Amino acid sequence: MSTCCLLAVAVVVGVAYIFRHIVVKGKRCTSEAKLHGKTVIVTGSNTGIGKTTAIDLAKRGARVILACRSRQRGEAALAEVKRESNSNRVVFMQLDLGSLKSVRSFADTFLKSEPRLDILINNAGIYMQGRTEDGLGMMFGVNHIGHFLLTNLLLERLKQCGPSRVVNVSSLGHNFGKIDFDSLNTHKALGLGTSFWEVFQTYCDSKLCNVLFTHELAKILQGSKVTCYSLHPGAINTELARNTSSVLQLCLKPLTTYFFKNTVQGCQTTLHCALQEGLEPFSGRYFSNCTVREVYDKAKDDAAAKKLWELSERLCGLA
Ligand SMILES: NC(=O)c1ccc[n+]([C@@H]2O[C@H](COP(=O)([O-])OP(=O)(O)OC[C@H]3O[C@@H](n4cnc5c(N)ncnc54)[C@H](OP(=O)(O)O)[C@@H]3O)[C@@H](O)[C@H]2O)c1
Ligand SMILES: *[C@@H]1O[C@H](CO)[C@@H](O)[C@H](O)[C@H]1NC(C)=O
Ligand SMILES: *[C@@H]1O[C@H](CO)[C@@H](O)[C@H](O)[C@H]1NC(C)=O
Ligand SMILES: *[C@@H]1O[C@H](CO)[C@@H](O)[C@H](O)[C@H]1NC(C)=O
Repeated sequence: MSTCCLLAVAVVVGVAYIFRHIVVKGKRCTSEAKLHGKTVIVTGSNTGIGKTTAIDLAKRGARVILACRSRQRGEAALAEVKRESNSNRVVFMQLDLGSLKSVRSFADTFLKSEPRLDILINNAGIYMQGRTEDGLGMMFGVNHIGHFLLTNLLLERLKQCGPSRVVNVSSLGHNFGKIDFDSLNTHKALGLGTSFWEVFQTYCDSKLCNVLFTHELAKILQGSKVTCYSLHPGAINTELARNTSSVLQLCLKPLTTYFFKNTVQGCQTTLHCALQEGLEPFSGRYFSNCTVREVYDKAKDDAAAKKLWELSERLCGLA
């Protein structure tokens, strides 16, 4: 009996160990690309996978712009990224994606002070209901519209510096997403509910927007030297759940600590999309575990992608 128990425990421990060290860990970005003379923007790079992405790119010699909303957290991250990468070519520039004004002022400052842009990594993301400064739904506004405006304002510079890339950090959650155009038209939000499921649904909807955008952008960029990719980084132990209920956080912590990727593992697919040689034919596609993936029809729906693009242009005053 006790031998049986021991054996069972050993099997469970063994499976958990293998799961963690093979499945969870995932593939690494194997590109050895060096980035001397290149400039990269990483949004939301003061913590989580944005920060580890920035450290890796700085180690490769890139000039890295940390685009973060909090000056205090941004400057703390600046010191850490410089130290970890042993590079001084790292700068902090304030960017709040929940404010169209801030996005415009960031783009202005950037375009005036930086001659190049080679890689734009739209990484920042939020998991929280509420409204942005401009009255948009928080997750729609930050995860989608803020990045939409940013990408559009920087597109000319990316084109001038081609071959260049735009990388959009989306999520597997986009599979559960839907885009409720009625809600967007009346409330400028993907959903208004605050229950657990409603918040989760709205997050997934905003991540579907990222994938659809990449789809539409790739078409717009055809013939230019700019390519774009969206991706799922994996399930990662970061601060993303910080604004969910404390009970949920308490229950999740042990699981995320053991069974989720750490932030170095979590940034590998972003690095792959930003650096891997020969990805150009896959522009507009979606990646996970450093591999290109098929998506459901709703995530490559031409009509929905175009409609969302036009609506987004109107909402951020580009049209
Ligand atoms: N963790 C996962 O399991 C997972 C899974 C799938 C996809 N993702 C995606 O991965 C990306 C990175 O997330 P993470 O897991 O590293 O989360 P994180 O640790 O919470 O980092 C998110 C970053 O986004 C920034 N941010 C939030 N709102 C912003 C705003 N209005 N303006 C500018 N920056 C803002 C945060 O800044 P503050 O520190 O100032 O809040 C932070 O730097 C997100 O797009 C997320 O949706 C994560
Ligand atoms: C990622 O790919 C590696 C190597 O191919 C594989 O061992 C691992 O199971 C994959 N992980 C996930 C989550 O798909
Ligand atoms: C990234 O997503 C944003 C917001 O969804 C969108 O505006 C932008 O065009 C996308 N870029 C790429 C390369 O997918
Ligand atoms: C979100 O969580 C952070 C960190 O715990 C906290 O500082 C912030 O006030 C929270 N924001 C809201 C609106 O709950």
